[in-house]
Amino acid sequence: MNELPITRRHDKTLSPAGKRPTDAPPWIDEIDNPYLHGLFAPITSEISAEKLEVQGEIPRDLYGAYYRNGPNSAHAPKNRYHWFDGDGMVHGIWFENGEARYRNRYIRTYCFEDERRAQESIWPGVLGPFDFSLPRGPLKDTANTDLLHYRGRLLALWYESGQPYALNFETLETEGIEDLAGNLTGRISAHSRVDPATGDFVFFSYSDQPPYMQYGVYTEAGRFHHVDIGLPGPRRPHDIGVTPNYSILHDFPVFMSKELFEKTGKRVPLFHPEVPTRYGVIPRFGDDADVRWFECEPCYMLHVVNCYEEGDWVVMTGCRTSDPTLRPDPADGKIAAMLAGLKLQANLYQWRLNLATGEVREGALDDFNTEFPMIAPSVLGLDNRYAYLQHIPEEIPAAFHSLVKYDLKTGAHERWDYGEGVFGSEAPFCPRAGAKAEDDGYLVTFVTDTRDWSSTCQIFHAQAITDGPIATVRIPQRVPAGFHATWVPGEELG
Ligand SMILES: [Fe+2]
Repeated sequence: MNELPITRRHDKTLSPAGKRPTDAPPWIDEIDNPYLHGLFAPITSEISAEKLEVQGEIPRDLYGAYYRNGPNSAHAPKNRYHWFDGDGMVHGIWFENGEARYRNRYIRTYCFEDERRAQESIWPGVLGPFDFSLPRGPLKDTANTDLLHYRGRLLALWYESGQPYALNFETLETEGIEDLAGNLTGRISAHSRVDPATGDFVFFSYSDQPPYMQYGVYTEAGRFHHVDIGLPGPRRPHDIGVTPNYSILHDFPVFMSKELFEKTGKRVPLFHPEVPTRYGVIPRFGDDADVRWFECEPCYMLHVVNCYEEGDWVVMTGCRTSDPTLRPDPADGKIAAMLAGLKLQANLYQWRLNLATGEVREGALDDFNTEFPMIAPSVLGLDNRYAYLQHIPEEIPAAFHSLVKYDLKTGAHERWDYGEGVFGSEAPFCPRAGAKAEDDGYLVTFVTDTRDWSSTCQIFHAQAITDGPIATVRIPQRVPAGFHATWVPGEELG
């Protein structure tokens, strides 16, 4: 089956010489979709491995665990597959005393368990059409998108707004739904934040029904603040900005026609360049009436890098897509819209919103295509200097070609290319114990080599990424491309 067409654009980079990963399930060979093949092909095993082989030396002060979430379909899709659809799988690597161990596990969501019992897919994917008669909703909550650590557990979150699934730090077993001490009855989006100074858990969610957005905060003391936010219609905001006193809500002019959705069951998000982007600045414990909306240039953005306050200004830096117009290539057939949509083409950009005057200033910091930003966790909401991103080449949507370190004060960057046919993962910052400088720490990332399908975990010193990895740890199986990652310091692992 190796010679089956995979998708003309992706043959070379994602499946060199037509060789499929041998650990991928056989059913992928029947489906012509690049996000089930090569770098993106699911694996079928859940393993644990101790004392991993290392090239170089794992720093002895690197103590903690790197976890990465991502899609890994357990069954052949029921209808047209989108990269966002796969069942959530977490890959974890633990470092202590210069040694490393690895484990990967599926996130056992309710839908995953239903499909495991049925031994086949039950839910359609995000490309629809949806089936509203299905139990648990028309889409499968896979929890496959983000990970954050909160109160001693790892939370797996889903981009469409789902139930937060709590995973055990050590075993990665799914322990159940995190409902914030019984307060959270609804869903939350993938990108919540935990304020490092207060422990406040700040979150939002969105839906197709009015008022279309909810915003919430859950405090260390157990206060649960949850309010409706009115938007002009159904939107697809992906992230939220957080400062010590405010949160920044997103309303981008990329939205579907509600009428078309009701008629066809398909979401077709379109860019409306005549409609402004709106950012809503809400006090941490504010409600809908407190939101100050600022109109900005039309765009889309998946991920915020960071936000901070400066006098009357609220400043937000993010990975902005200036022209989210879909340009599907008819030669890509039925998956043309998906392929076009995954071409992020985002660059670092800053918005300054003045709460006293209503003034907006905005502009690009650079024009290099980067996404999946990480910062030192201690500087969330503060005026920080460094960010760590992934460069994604235009011709291979969603494949991370280089690790990039930005100086946000100058817009300058340096980069480390993983290598021809070699791709990384989101790379969180791991502070060194007692570090004084913001960038005194390590960056860790899973790296997969499509030439032989080997995977490693590479460790970089954040102050010298252009020196290359200081340690390369062999992972005893392939790690497919994925979404978001996090670092949990050893002291918090318990
Ligand atoms: Fe995301």
